[in-house]
Amino acid sequence: MPKITIAIDGYSSTGKSTVARQLAEWLEYVYVDSGAMYRAVTLYALRNNLVSYSEFKKEELIDSLEEIRLEFRKNKDGKAEMYLNGENVEKEIRTLEVSEFVSIIATVPEVRRKLVKLQHAMGEGKGVVMDGRDIGTVVFPNADLKIFMNASADVRARRRYEELSQRGDQITFEEVFNNVTERDHIDTNRKDSPLKKADDAIEIDNSETNIEDQFHTILQLAKDRIAGRVKRS
Ligand code: DC
Repeated sequence: MPKITIAIDGYSSTGKSTVARQLAEWLEYVYVDSGAMYRAVTLYALRNNLVSYSEFKKEELIDSLEEIRLEFRKNKDGKAEMYLNGENVEKEIRTLEVSEFVSIIATVPEVRRKLVKLQHAMGEGKGVVMDGRDIGTVVFPNADLKIFMNASADVRARRRYEELSQRGDQITFEEVFNNVTERDHIDTNRKDSPLKKADDAIEIDNSETNIEDQFHTILQLAKDRIAGRVKRS
């Protein structure tokens, strides 16, 4: 079977990673959560006092990019987890604090260039499902299947709030809602690789769809693209 490249982009908390992970498992493809990479750089910046509510030492972050080593390693259940300079940071990168700074960090072109290079190395020529904001537009503009996911801000914030509350994080719905809408704003308006639907992406709004139905819709699209490749080869 030929292996294809699948790009899943969209707004925050639209369930991109859930569907991308399921799809990769089903197809036995590599799954790359590109948001985790931006989150890990943000964690590095926070830990090294390069960013705070009062200042952003952008040049210092750019100078220290070479010291940031990112990799995904599989845990015992086969789930890929994010490692920052050899340390498992999968839990730390999901906090609201990291979410509050990640979009600012993701505006820096030098950060993006470093991560896009790594993303190419992780996915190029392999069967890959990658989710993020610029996968279908910048990272893999020739991807075989591009999905653009959306849902209302209220639905997305509610999902994220439940996820964080279940983990035991002390947060309010308003904080999560504000973070989701603020990130949408920064992600769509930044100069370098803004979040936007690729012209050839298929848009899916899952405000009212359940995860299971959505997975089957996208899986069918992937199967059709794979079959198309077989016919052409
Ligand atoms: O997918 P996520 O919510 O974990 O992503 C966190 C942030 O990282 C998101 O708000 C913007 C940034 N990001 C990006 O700019 N480009 C990507 N390909 C993935 C994420």
